[in-house]
Amino acid sequence: MKSIKTILITGGAGFIGSHVIRLFVNKYPNYRIINLDKLTYAGNLENLSDIEDLPNYTFVKGDIVDTELIQRLFSEEDIDSVIHLAAESHVDRSITDPTDFIKTNIIGTTNLLTVAKTAWHGESDHLFYHISTDEVYGSLSEGLFTESTPYDPQSPYSASKASSDHFVRAFSNTYGLPAIISNCSNNYGPNQFPEKLIPLCINNIKNRRPLPIYGKGENIRDWLYVEDHASAIDVIFHKGSTFETYNIGGLNEWKNIDVVKVLCRIMDTKLERNIKESEKLITFVRDRAGHDLRYAIDSSKITNELGWSPSVTFEVGLEQTVDWYLKNDPWLSNIVSGEYKKYYDSQYD
Ligand code: NAD
Ligand code: TYD
Repeated sequence: MKSIKTILITGGAGFIGSHVIRLFVNKYPNYRIINLDKLTYAGNLENLSDIEDLPNYTFVKGDIVDTELIQRLFSEEDIDSVIHLAAESHVDRSITDPTDFIKTNIIGTTNLLTVAKTAWHGESDHLFYHISTDEVYGSLSEGLFTESTPYDPQSPYSASKASSDHFVRAFSNTYGLPAIISNCSNNYGPNQFPEKLIPLCINNIKNRRPLPIYGKGENIRDWLYVEDHASAIDVIFHKGSTFETYNIGGLNEWKNIDVVKVLCRIMDTKLERNIKESEKLITFVRDRAGHDLRYAIDSSKITNELGWSPSVTFEVGLEQTVDWYLKNDPWLSNIVSGEYKKYYDSQYD
């Protein structure tokens, strides 16, 4: 067991980060958890309102690009572990403008690595755990991504995440920085910003708005419930081997069009609408530029070595997700009434 005192979690006000923070502060009351988040459009402290007063949790508003702030945090708080989730995360925004993806995902990650390397002086029981995506491997026609699949990123988002992964490995190789990387498939669940396929469609079905499907809807993603990702992060953080990479997937490949049809069916039932009423909202729109055809993960390494496997089926996870969005109308209304409207109009008109 590593001797852990203080964990810096970056991006903890975002979708996945908020689930990771909740799991860690509740399960490990002896750890001090510091959440560093810039609160971009995707960061939302409402995601953490149930745990914000816990004594082992602290929020710091700040940018991972800000070297002075990170140095101060490391020296004042005596941070011995990092779980790095902060990122610009949406592929469509990266296509419109990659600038913030380069700043946060590449420069921000390298900044954190540099401060950790200097502060830790080669301590081997410290850990820099970098959270990444399966999109770094590119687009699949057959087979599955394994930990040794060559990197072949295709979008500005995946190129920036691939670059950050390379920097993490370069810091391990060059300076001996103790690091682990995990690459996960598409997450879904409560608190996801409604620019991503599943929450965007939930919001649009609710409001009887068109459901924009890129191209023919035949692109395939491997979907994982966000709490299963958080539990994989917990397992890797505690039991993973330093300098290793772990792929995390849901064994759950779906064509986009089929995901949206299942959502329509679930919501027609919950909203007491006619059978297949919401499917009529499906609208095929111009394809995403450079749209990756298929992602699919071989997660046998984490299953065989660390005993993790997904626990929530897609049907159950989608129902829980829909229930959460229907129950948390103020959360959704706050988001879709602001900047989001401008984004939506420019992306879809
Ligand atoms: P998100 O966009 O919901 O949240 C990102 C968070 O990072 C926000 O709270 C935002 O305020 C914060 N942030 C952004 N720039 C920052 C900066 N410069 N300094 C400090 N904080 C900053 O993202 P997510 O979907 O929760 O993804 C979290 C991580 O997991 C990312 O690294 C992403 O690449 C990775 N990932 C996501 C998925 C997925 O399906 N969403 C899958 C695999 C991996
Ligand atoms: P998304 O949720 O943006 O995740 P990623 O691009 O990281 O996989 O998209 C999931 C899939 O859904 C992807 O193939 C693009 C597609 N998609 C649409 O068809 N319409 C949409 O409005 C969005 C946002 C995504």
